[in-house]
Amino acid sequence: MSLHADTSASFRHLLDLELLPVHHLKHVLQRAQAFAEGAQAPQALAGVAVCTLFFEPSTRTRLSFQLAAQRLGAYSLNFDASTSSVTKGETDLDTFRTIEAMGVRGFVVRHKSDGAVAALAAAAKAGVAVVNAGDGRSHHPTQGLLDMLTLRQAKGEDFSKLKVVIVGDVKHSRVARSDVHALRALGCGEIRVCGPAALLPDDDTLHGCIVTEDLDAALEGVDAAMMLRLQRERMAEGLVASLEDYHRDYGLTAARLQRAAADAIVMHPGPMNRGVEITDEVADGPQSRILNQVANGVAVRMAVLEVVLTN
Ligand code: CP
Repeated sequence: MSLHADTSASFRHLLDLELLPVHHLKHVLQRAQAFAEGAQAPQALAGVAVCTLFFEPSTRTRLSFQLAAQRLGAYSLNFDASTSSVTKGETDLDTFRTIEAMGVRGFVVRHKSDGAVAALAAAAKAGVAVVNAGDGRSHHPTQGLLDMLTLRQAKGEDFSKLKVVIVGDVKHSRVARSDVHALRALGCGEIRVCGPAALLPDDDTLHGCIVTEDLDAALEGVDAAMMLRLQRERMAEGLVASLEDYHRDYGLTAARLQRAAADAIVMHPGPMNRGVEITDEVADGPQSRILNQVANGVAVRMAVLEVVLTN
């Protein structure tokens, strides 16, 4: 059980969206929407110390969690593995316990290994909360939540008639997994997934989704296109022939976007490879909601920290 939930709007850790009861998910979205609209941030976490414990690089997740913690009145501490005693051989668990012993109550953890964040959560002392900021290719729950908030703002709360396509390296994407779980939980009418066969998962992640390798077909009539970053190591692994080939077959251009609904929105979790999975014209165009996603990241992370640290 990755989420320690009860029947109220409280839960202790947020590790993935798969087992998050839909009422918790909706509560976080409602609270985040209030923060996004400028609701006064209560000093709910005054005196609480929150540490962003990142074993992998990040720009938006790390900074938005820090800002979220500060807006709630918490002390925000930043841990960067590359400049820490991890470089001297200290284990992840000893690192976690060391910071926990200083009185830190909230941990926001990113790690390259699947399950590493859950393992730290399992070791946490009573009263200490852990939020997954991305582990391996498994989960990125707050990205899934901020993506749903962005969709809701653009398309309303009823997802039952929405057609959404997720495009790119789904196989290695924790964002895609969290988005698929959240879209399912919110009753999205049609979830399409598109990418080259080598970048599509071979497990049951996509059950119930429409899966295709044809981007033009996948875009037909969609209300939202969620583009994924092409991880460049996939070329070294031989899964993608070249960036040019990938752009030709899976890059979102303004011409391609015309296949989508006229009011379709375009999303991307960032960081983008401009000119590969998305052109400048689309990324910076009127249908782009990419910077709205970034802004919503702060609101969603405020809502999550408030829930896990005030329960
Ligand atoms: N979307 C996302 O997780 O971005 P960062 O790696 O910059 O945090």
